[in-house]
Amino acid sequence: MSHEEERKLLDEARQGEVLEMPNNESTDKKVKKVYLESYGCQMNFADSEIVASILAKDGYITTKNIDESDVVFLNTCAIRDNAEQKIRNRLRDFQKIKKRNPGMIVGMLGCMAERLKHNVLEEEKSVDLVVGPDAYRDLPNLIKEVEGGHKSVNVLLSREETYADINPVRLDSNGVSAFISIMRGCDNMCSFCVVPFTRGRERSRDPHSIIKEAQELVNNGYKEVTLLGQNVDSYKWTEEDSEEKVNFSQLLKIVAAIDSSLRVRFSTSHPKDMTDDVLYAMAEHHNICDYIHLPVQSGSSRLLDLMNRGYTREWYQERIDSIRRIIPGCGISTDIITGFCSESDEDHQETLEVMRYSGYDFAYMFKYSERPNTAAAKKLTDDVPEAVKQKRLEDVIKMQHDLSFESNKIDLGKTFEVLIEGTSKRSAEKLYGRSSQSKVVVFPKGDHQKGDYVHVKITDCTSGTLIGEVVHPSTPRLQSTKK
Ligand code: 5AD
Ligand code: SF4
Repeated sequence: MSHEEERKLLDEARQGEVLEMPNNESTDKKVKKVYLESYGCQMNFADSEIVASILAKDGYITTKNIDESDVVFLNTCAIRDNAEQKIRNRLRDFQKIKKRNPGMIVGMLGCMAERLKHNVLEEEKSVDLVVGPDAYRDLPNLIKEVEGGHKSVNVLLSREETYADINPVRLDSNGVSAFISIMRGCDNMCSFCVVPFTRGRERSRDPHSIIKEAQELVNNGYKEVTLLGQNVDSYKWTEEDSEEKVNFSQLLKIVAAIDSSLRVRFSTSHPKDMTDDVLYAMAEHHNICDYIHLPVQSGSSRLLDLMNRGYTREWYQERIDSIRRIIPGCGISTDIITGFCSESDEDHQETLEVMRYSGYDFAYMFKYSERPNTAAAKKLTDDVPEAVKQKRLEDVIKMQHDLSFESNKIDLGKTFEVLIEGTSKRSAEKLYGRSSQSKVVVFPKGDHQKGDYVHVKITDCTSGTLIGEVVHPSTPRLQSTKK
């Protein structure tokens, strides 16, 4: 895509009409209330905002009070067995509430709904409605079916659905940062992962609609967007009329150019697909945050092969080298699974080594949980004893604790630009925000506000938080998008 075409896309977004926010006041029907509870990944939380928007057009408003709701939706996760158990326990609570409020409709949305399909209705008597991630446009009809006395299910997956035209209703928003979904599904087929089965084939969203959504957020005072996809590096779009292609690094640059005071983040990157182009785009644009979530899963090339991850330990470490070379000081986080099929002590040691090599700032760490119908469930044996999985998880958590603490100690005395997200949970006298590297920074309130950018000098830290003071006078944020 040429510069001229990038410009055209941006101009189009700026001139575009202001997207209509759902407006329930104009409906004279009785306003109905929906209670939405979301589990799992950021994508699921973003999907709940799409669900709220679809229902708003049908006259629903969202409520935080389950007792006054007409419809209750659990947007579920199926990634590990314990995620599903949590949902089942929550359904027990709903069963009790239903006794008090028999007209209440209970729906299961998302990945667990997609995985279990019609079986949910047999296994969970409190559920009236089962809807997979690609069928949310059908929700108003499905609710009507339930109101007519039938249980209803739509778990059809789509090759096209991206909800591109739907303007999400921002739920639980701090008014500062928002998610923008840029693609759906996943084609990677990591052998342990249920996502390709629950979210279907990978498809990218029209960049025009992404830019429009980002522009709308800027117009509404938002200061940060996170572009979401299971594997953002494989984002690709071909314009129908011109055959012009847009890849992820180009999309990043276009979104960054919308407004130099809008921070742009993204998740998740895949080590096999993350190109230097993306890293150069980050280095060039001050407002693309210096932070990458790059799941390694394991440090053993043998296990990575069994996991069908498409890279070796050496390849992964080379990607880390490139990040460090092109974006010095970049924040890096990861996902790690302990106790995958046939994992030996040596494999586990390699995971600890790759953690140390990468010097992660943060990690999400899990014990392997076999998921039905995945390649690992079909072809490999879940043979690492639970106690060993647990012990290795503890080793990995300990290693990460040390790495996070080391990384934070290196920041002592440095000054970071922080976007303020709100009041600290521990003290009303303090605010918190994030650095570009995605570290949480806490500092005295002064006369600063949520949504402000401030420069904070770090004076102290824990393994999870940087603590500091606003440097006076606070330097105004650079207006240039160049570093
Ligand atoms: N067991 C444990 N962890 C898993 N993940 C995905 N599938 C499983 C599983 N079956 C983890 C991976 C992935 C993250 C979102 O969840 O680390 O990156
Ligand atoms: Fe699952 Fe792998 Fe796709 Fe991530 S990239 S969603 S781990 S299949």
